[in-house]
Amino acid sequence: MKKIIAVDGPAGAGKSTVSKIVAARLGYTYIDTGAMYRAVALKVLESGKPVEEVTGDIEIKLDEAGKVFLDGREVTKEIRTPEVSRGASDVAKFGFVRKKLTELQREMATQGSVIMDGRDIGTQVLPNADLKIFLTATVEERARRRFEELKAKNFAADFEQIKKEISLRDKQDSEREIAPLKMAEDAVLLDTTNLTIEQVVAEILRLAQT
Ligand code: CDP
Repeated sequence: MKKIIAVDGPAGAGKSTVSKIVAARLGYTYIDTGAMYRAVALKVLESGKPVEEVTGDIEIKLDEAGKVFLDGREVTKEIRTPEVSRGASDVAKFGFVRKKLTELQREMATQGSVIMDGRDIGTQVLPNADLKIFLTATVEERARRRFEELKAKNFAADFEQIKKEISLRDKQDSEREIAPLKMAEDAVLLDTTNLTIEQVVAEILRLAQT
């Protein structure tokens, strides 16, 4: 059985949805690294302070139930807005932010069997992961999924706007100098455009067990 699983890919590819299910089925801990970048962005947006200042004494915690805590306050819902998505990609460019979160993520991965998702997990955070998955889908499909997700959470959502924002964020994430979004050479590519969640989960479980 593969004990450390890394899942990377662009926005809306289904990383967190499938990773959560795989974690539950295998009894692994799910670690959402995007939530950590989102928490940094939320702190910048709320405080109006520069990211350098905010990162110094930030405390980010993820609990077993998937709740996210920023400096002791639960921010699980607040970090999912489009504004925070944009902000997360902006703060993720800075080396000092990545260094701090990467250290925290590596520390979390020492706690047993984990499935961790993000952009640089297979390439930078856990290069020795037992299984690396790169999840992708067409930008139309990814925008459609994000649109449905935001609607379900009662956030105002506009499909064309979401598609534009996703494309911009993917471009920014792929082109940044430090730890860009990139498929690891030894990752398995899964295009989920025409796959159901259950089909993707089944494939990852199969790969984890071989
Ligand atoms: O859920 P979605 O795929 O839209 O985004 P996310 O995984 O929550 O990540 C939000 C942003 O954080 C991304 O657009 C990246 O800029 C950044 N991020 C990163 O740089 N490295 C990671 N390991 C995870 C997220």
